[in-house]
Amino acid sequence: MTKKSCKIQFIESKYSSIELTIDQKLAEHLTVENSPILFGCRTGICGTCIVAVEGNIPPPSSEEKELLEVLAPENPKARLACQIQLTNDIQITKIK
Ligand code: FES
Repeated sequence: MTKKSCKIQFIESKYSSIELTIDQKLAEHLTVENSPILFGCRTGICGTCIVAVEGNIPPPSSEEKELLEVLAPENPKARLACQIQLTNDIQITKIK
């Protein structure tokens, strides 16, 4: 069975979209060369990678949710890019 690929688009940025297969980790494939997203810890602790996400992906874990409530309580689309489980095409906008 071939793995489904997911398209990641960076809205409001000069970066081209990239394709990853389902379940690949954004934190392992996005770099300063190919995306506007900055990473720090890559483990869901520092909040550096916060972005707004459109797309049908699994909801945040309770740990991610806790941090998002502190960092972007007013933004229901906020997610930590390093914690995203890639299951579908997504559109990412940088929050800060
Ligand atoms: S890089 Fe630290 S929370 Fe995602």
